Amino acid sequence: MNSIVIYKSKTGFAKKYAKWISDALSCDMISLEDLNKNNIKNYDMIIYGSGIMAGQLYQLDKVSKMIDSKQRLYVYACGAIDKDAKDIISKIKDNCILKLGRDVPFYYFQAGVNYESMGFIYKQMLKAMYKSLLKKEEKTSEEEEMMKALKESHDASKQTDIDEFITNIKQGLN
Ligand SMILES: Cc1cc2nc3c(=O)[nH]c(=O)nc-3n(C[C@H](O)[C@H](O)[C@H](O)COP(=O)(O)O)c2cc1C
Repeated sequence: MNSIVIYKSKTGFAKKYAKWISDALSCDMISLEDLNKNNIKNYDMIIYGSGIMAGQLYQLDKVSKMIDSKQRLYVYACGAIDKDAKDIISKIKDNCILKLGRDVPFYYFQAGVNYESMGFIYKQMLKAMYKSLLKKEEKTSEEEEMMKALKESHDASKQTDIDEFITNIKQGLN
């Protein structure tokens, strides 16, 4: 199967996973900035991955619209929250995938936060989010999880986290 990994990455995590995936599948990879419809028309399988911003993936709708119904689409999201936060991840999946109106397998890869390589505005947004959570007296478990994830720069990405994804893709499973 002719596959390509497309990524949109602000601080490098989704790009790192794209590289691991393209190496494992021996397939091409391209950043979303370099993509146009001609780049992907000859691929049977498109894998799209990006960081998460406020529970959403960057520009997934745009990528989905470029892909026709015969091409298989897989999506992965890189975020700061723990990979065991299943309820939060399931909400992110529903937010991002249901509106596409097609069957799209979704995977979450725990990545991290890199305040040093983040743009000024995003850094301010995250710091403000962290401070307001810190002040809140009664936090939901989701808020506790988010606070833990945003506290400081960290890198929790792991190459072996893609193993199940790669096995499923090779077997044509979700
Ligand atoms: C404004 C903003 C909002 C974010 N919201 C979330 C979020 O809702 N859930 C999450 O897990 N991570 C969130 N993050 C963290 C990023 O998704 C995380 O750092 C990711 O690894 C970035 O990937 P990238 O380096 O490929 O862009 C947010 C980051 C920013 C800047």
